[in-house]
Order: sequence, then C-alpha cells, then structure tokens
Amino acid sequence: MGLAVHDVPDATPLWRVERSDCLDFLGALEDGSVDCIVTDPAYSGMNQHMQFGRGRIVGRYGEPGNSRWFQEFHDDPATFSRFLEECHRVLRPDRHIYVMFDSFSLLSLGALMRERFNVKGVIVWDKVNIGMGHYFRRSHELVVFACKGRRRLNRRDLADVWRIKRIHRGAYPTQKPVELFARMLVGSVEPGMVVCDPFAGSGSSAIAALAAGCSFAGADISADAVALARARCSAYTTTGRDPLEA
Ligand SMILES: C[S@@+](CC[C@H](N)C(=O)[O-])C[C@H]1O[C@@H](n2cnc3c(N)ncnc32)[C@H](O)[C@@H]1O
Repeated sequence: MGLAVHDVPDATPLWRVERSDCLDFLGALEDGSVDCIVTDPAYSGMNQHMQFGRGRIVGRYGEPGNSRWFQEFHDDPATFSRFLEECHRVLRPDRHIYVMFDSFSLLSLGALMRERFNVKGVIVWDKVNIGMGHYFRRSHELVVFACKGRRRLNRRDLADVWRIKRIHRGAYPTQKPVELFARMLVGSVEPGMVVCDPFAGSGSSAIAALAAGCSFAGADISADAVALARARCSAYTTTGRDPLEA
C-alpha cells in the first residue's frame, strides 16, 4: 500500500481515511513516513470509571441496542506501548506527536509516552462548558506534546492552555473542534507535510491538516466514522468548507 500521498509533487493536499484498527493501519505504514501525529484515542479506562446509574456509558447512543458510542481501544499498558512504538516508527525523525488523554488515562498511560518520545509538555484543553461528572465536573482534557528527536515549535508565542468550546451534539460522538487540532499543527507542520491520525473519528484532525496545506493519512475502526470523515474531507477539498463546523 505505502503512503503515496508524500510523493505527489502537486501542491494539492491529499487525504486518505481507512477503515482499520490503529495497529494494523500503523503497521502498514513505512518507517519515517509521516511528519506529525495528532490523535485522540478511544480510551476504555475512563469509561470503566465513568459507568453511572445502571452501568451505562454516559452520552448519546447510536442505533437502538448499541450500548456504546463506539468501539474502545484496549488501552492496557502493553497495547498502548505497542501503539506508541508504532507511532515512533512511522514518525520521521525530528518531528512532533500530540496524544490526547483524559485525566484517568493520563494517570495510567501518560508516563509510557516518556519511554518512546521526548515529552515536552502537557497542554490543557479548556472546553469552556462544563461536562458530565458526579464530583468536579469535567471541563478539560489533556494533550501530551512530545518529540521524536529534536524539533522546536514553529512559533514562540503559543501558550499551553487552550480555551476552545467543546462541540455539543455534534455529528459524531466525541467529535472534537477542528480548532483543537489546528492549534497542534500550527507549531509543528509546514505545508506539504503528512499528518497522521490513527483514531480519526469524524475527521476533525484531517480538516485541520488540509487547512494547514498538509496531506492526511488516517484510520478508524468504525465504518460510520470512516464514511463521515471521507465525506467531510471530500466536501472540504471540493468546496473549501467544512460541512460539520461552520
Ligand atoms: C475519541 S474518538 C475520536 C474523535 C475524533 N477526534 C473526532 O474529532 O471526531 C476515538 C475514535 O477511535 C475509534 N477507535 C476505537 N478503537 C479503535 C481502534 N482499535 N483502532 C482505530 N480506531 C479505533 C473509534 O471508532 C472513535 O471514532
């Protein structure tokens, strides 16, 4: 298969979104073939902690009978380590990676990032509006920012708390604002680079990548997500408009 997007001389950014497990998808990419990884994994840990009421996962449900928003990634430390190892292999040297965590997964898995990458910081995404919870109700998520090798940010005026309104009742469960990924990419890519997201969901990272003049290679295990992300990228490259965000 290979990552053909990189070799196309034309300036038009290309994209592809595959239906695949993240490890299979990464396993098929060549060593050092992507320039930036931005990703928002489907951690199972948080949901295990957040089973409320009758043990259901909080949120909007899909088809009747579906008890989960989407399939979770089995984020035991061994699997997460393999995932990071693959991310490290496919990332070109002297490039950046951004991995999103909720508080629970940061405590259980975040430290593994330091075994593979040079961790440079933890960014707080302030979602502005308060979310679910029985204790302190959540209004933030975290992004671990790290480097393979050495690379500065493109700019020196970027703070590590990002106040961006979360998406309420989006087209896809846990759809993130494009702006969130755009903030990751602004310091880390140049036009023509390849951005990768192995948990692409509705394709918000893809839209941010295309808007930054980059190509995009992503995957998601859900057929619905892949269909949505593909339609979104296609509409964006044709019209210049993102159909899921104004
Ligand atoms: C938190 S969501 C990503 C949302 C995305 N950032 C967006 O803005 O729409 C995580 C995604 O991971 C996908 N997923 C779960 N397990 C996976 C796996 N093993 N490999 C790839 N994708 C997986 C889910 O289908 C879900 O779309």
